Amino acid sequence: MTVRTVPVSLAGRSYDILIGPGLIDRAGELSVALLPSRRVIVVTDETVAPLYGDRLVASFAKAGIAAATVTVPAGESSKEFAAFGRLMNALLDERPDRKVTLVALGGGVVGDLTGFAAATLLRGVDFIQVPTTLLAQVDSSVGGKTGINTRHGKNLVGAFYQPRLVLADTTVLDTLPRRELLAGYAEVAKYGLIDDPAFWDWCEANGAAVLAGDAARRTYAIEQSCRSKARIVAADERETTDLRALLNLGHTFGHALEAETGFGPDLLHGEAVGAGMAMAFDLSAKVGLCPPTDAARVRRHLASVGLPVRLRTIGGDNRRTWDATRLIEHMRGDKKAEAGKLTFILANGIGRAFVTREVDEAALRGLLDTAIAA
Ligand code: NAD
Ligand code: GLY
Repeated sequence: MTVRTVPVSLAGRSYDILIGPGLIDRAGELSVALLPSRRVIVVTDETVAPLYGDRLVASFAKAGIAAATVTVPAGESSKEFAAFGRLMNALLDERPDRKVTLVALGGGVVGDLTGFAAATLLRGVDFIQVPTTLLAQVDSSVGGKTGINTRHGKNLVGAFYQPRLVLADTTVLDTLPRRELLAGYAEVAKYGLIDDPAFWDWCEANGAAVLAGDAARRTYAIEQSCRSKARIVAADERETTDLRALLNLGHTFGHALEAETGFGPDLLHGEAVGAGMAMAFDLSAKVGLCPPTDAARVRRHLASVGLPVRLRTIGGDNRRTWDATRLIEHMRGDKKAEAGKLTFILANGIGRAFVTREVDEAALRGLLDTAIAA
């Protein structure tokens, strides 16, 4: 299968996203011309390191590039402030100079963390993304949002800092647990719902095959997602207009669900986005913005692939008692809320999303009460 290239056009900071099988084994040859020196430090996590770490380092060696590796624990805890401090010291232990390049090998956690480390190490060094989850391949590795968490919330300390290259090796998804794959698929479907109804139709017809491992369809889904994200990021890199904010479809609801479940394993970020998108479309239909048939399609497709779109299916054995007031409080604490005003991405239909700060709170509460009772 040929390698697909998606350019991200950002004047002096443009870069390519390469998508295809076996790219980990070609990382050295594909990146060597971009490196300021033949020295990289790979940052990865304890799950991904034994799966792909040696192959990546060997591919750098083959291209004459010296690669050290720093491994962090798997999971969101590696984005804590203290963990970031430990990573920076581990990187400095390698005695890097400003020409070193960091390489993020892992999911969104490793990508966000390594990107922020690159933005701040020696006041800024280059970095490359080698995303290994579907979520990271279609969303977090593209667009330069990097950051870590604090006790005040997720991703509240960070930087816009673009990678020099993204290498999305489609075969690494074969080892990804199905639940993680599904969480990433919610982000794929999101691009259809934002502004690409034809891609949403494609998702309805092909989503199950993407999840079952059909290589051609997987590559197509990743490529289309990256094209959408690249287009939006190129037009609004720093989210200064509402354009990039559209990528937050499902996130106001999703953030509240994640906050209520403690940002832990009971609800993965992508799962929260999936449930949140269904709720955003339900709210859009409830206030008369969107045909109810479109909202029903969204809910039906996401549920049909196995995403937990009903609140009562969230939380595994730790079923929650949901509370509309608490969910609304979480929404107010979301960093998208401006001066306490809730910000939502709603839609006039599939592929017709828009940002609004004018949501009727009674309608929102009514929707949440219905969702809790369903
Ligand atoms: P993750 O990085 O925690 O990865 C999920 C799990 O899968 C981890 O345990 C990881 O070790 C494991 N894993 C990764 N690749 C694997 C593979 N190929 N085979 C087997 N196991 C593998 O989670 P994620 O969903 O990739 O990312 C979530 C993070 O991304 C959150 O911190 C979120 O805030 C961030 N995010 C950032 C952006 C952005 O624009 N920067 C966008 C969306 C999400
Ligand atoms: N994931 C949202 C963004 O990159 O803007």
